[in-house]
Amino acid sequence: MPTLLHINVSPRGNYSISRQLGAAAVQAWQKSNPGGRVIERDLAKSPLTFIDLDWIAGAFSALSDQLVSEVVEADEIVLATPMYNFAVPAALKAWVDHVVRAGKTFHYTTAGKPEGLLAGKDKKVLAIIASGANYAEGSGLTALDYEVPYLRFIFGFMASPTCVSSRPAELAMSCKVESPLRSSLHLI
Ligand SMILES: Cc1cc2nc3c(=O)[nH]c(=O)nc-3n(C[C@H](O)[C@H](O)[C@H](O)COP(=O)(O)O)c2cc1C
Repeated sequence: MPTLLHINVSPRGNYSISRQLGAAAVQAWQKSNPGGRVIERDLAKSPLTFIDLDWIAGAFSALSDQLVSEVVEADEIVLATPMYNFAVPAALKAWVDHVVRAGKTFHYTTAGKPEGLLAGKDKKVLAIIASGANYAEGSGLTALDYEVPYLRFIFGFMASPTCVSSRPAELAMSCKVESPLRSSLHLI
């Protein structure tokens, strides 16, 4: 049974643009994957702790284990998030810090190089970013956008390939990933 991890970040409830776009993508995924499982992870409803001394010492919380399992189990991920101050909201950065875990989602090679562990699993990630301004190529603001390059890198590091965009129409055109999520974008 295909599994989709749906991550929401915005605290703005029904007013949130990223939530609305993410919900549409998930709905389209469910249509093309009847019986598929959707794991809901709402970072606005269950705020995460930041990394503490116990975590660094290897005493991971049950929640951290749970967040890692959700990523590992998912065949596809829909991440719906705002841009805050040109980057990811703190809640999303906290999520990243919990799931990028040595021995689980990445490891060190014998040469000491960090390497993602999920890449062979053909995991697909769609990140939908809502922002006040337009940072697309040609806007003159692209260099100010630290969110798209960061998300592209971090998901590419754990798993690949990844589509990230603040503009669904542009994503539908530029995304090279063959995935049910890709066609769902045309419905948004
Ligand atoms: C604290 C805060 C910081 C923001 N920083 C930016 C920013 O750096 N660039 C931008 O274009 N929009 C910024 N915005 C606007 C939001 O990205 C925009 O309102 C977006 O629609 C929020 O996502 P949501 O509708 O899913 O809640 C900011 C909004 C807030 C509340």
